[in-house]
Amino acid sequence: MTDTTKRLRILSGVQPSGTLHIGNYFGALRQHIAMQDAGDAFYFLANYHALTTVNDASTLLELTRDAALDYLALGLDPQKATFFRQSDVPEVCELTWLLSTVTGMGLLERAVSYKDKLARGIQPRVGLFTYPVLMAADILIYDADVVPVGADQVQHIEMTRDMAGYFNTIYGETFHLPEPRLEESTARVPGTDGQKMSKSYGNTIGIFDEGKVLKTKVMGIVTDSTPVESPKDPESNTVWQLYRLVAPPDAAEDMAAQMRAGGYGYGTAKKALLEAIDETFAPFRDRRKELASRPEVVEDVLRDGAGRAREHARRVLDRARSACGIAPR
Ligand code: ADP
Ligand code: TRP
Repeated sequence: MTDTTKRLRILSGVQPSGTLHIGNYFGALRQHIAMQDAGDAFYFLANYHALTTVNDASTLLELTRDAALDYLALGLDPQKATFFRQSDVPEVCELTWLLSTVTGMGLLERAVSYKDKLARGIQPRVGLFTYPVLMAADILIYDADVVPVGADQVQHIEMTRDMAGYFNTIYGETFHLPEPRLEESTARVPGTDGQKMSKSYGNTIGIFDEGKVLKTKVMGIVTDSTPVESPKDPESNTVWQLYRLVAPPDAAEDMAAQMRAGGYGYGTAKKALLEAIDETFAPFRDRRKELASRPEVVEDVLRDGAGRAREHARRVLDRARSACGIAPR
């Protein structure tokens, strides 16, 4: 009997535009790694996207290599998942163009992340505006079923569905519509200043921070001025919000109860948090150091992944070219 069940196609990307932080880990990387067992997973380093913020060649190369090391050290298994650099599949750029010819300006103008950047006074370049079209191409070119992401990326997946829909309506069924997958409990990890942790806000704790650097960041977390003896609300303070991510559930409950009872200061809570972060990530540090000493292994993994990814990409791109009247290659 032939097996007709189609394996779930999972896809996600992360931009190597800065050092990956624990917000990226709990909001994205951890799900990516966990889902490599749930179907055919495709994960890539979105270095074309990173060009919208990083404009120095050696920095981009270094950040791309660092992000590859992070993923592999944290447990991405290249035997299970197809892991590659976005730019090793340049077909996505061609598909970006095809999609841009069916996408209204209005759709892109409604993108919240674009509007946020405008509001912060950034002089937008064309690539920042069309960023969601490249992201749609990334997803559609692999016929992805589900895209695990953090909360800020969900709108981009909805826009991807819209773009696929426009193309399908005009040219006939060509693209498969993906679904976002959001892990609600970790959708918004706070940074050391209490805002969303983000490399653009300078409030991050790096996944591989250790020693003094880690200690300074954790002890510097902004807290309110409630005196030690007064009760505190765990849900609304950054220290506990981070602690619950890295500590076992009963330890997190225990700290919450002590905060509510009063007599438990933020300094003590920060020390417990520091220890828990250290324990969570220490096991991955040695592996990362070992991988960093063998760059050729990492390069082989990425090249091999790109080869596999490219086969799929070429097939889907040909389908799109034929549909709209460009001869397949
Ligand atoms: P940053 O805001 O640091 O630039 P990115 O936008 O590159 O991060 O996000 C990479 C991935 O990590 C995305 O899937 C995003 O949703 C997730 N992510 C980023 N910051 C957080 C956060 N503070 N909490 C939860 N998930 C996050
Ligand atoms: N825009 C995503 C981010 O900043 C990265 C990304 C690029 C992505 N292409 C993608 C995520 C395709 C999911 C699917 O996090």
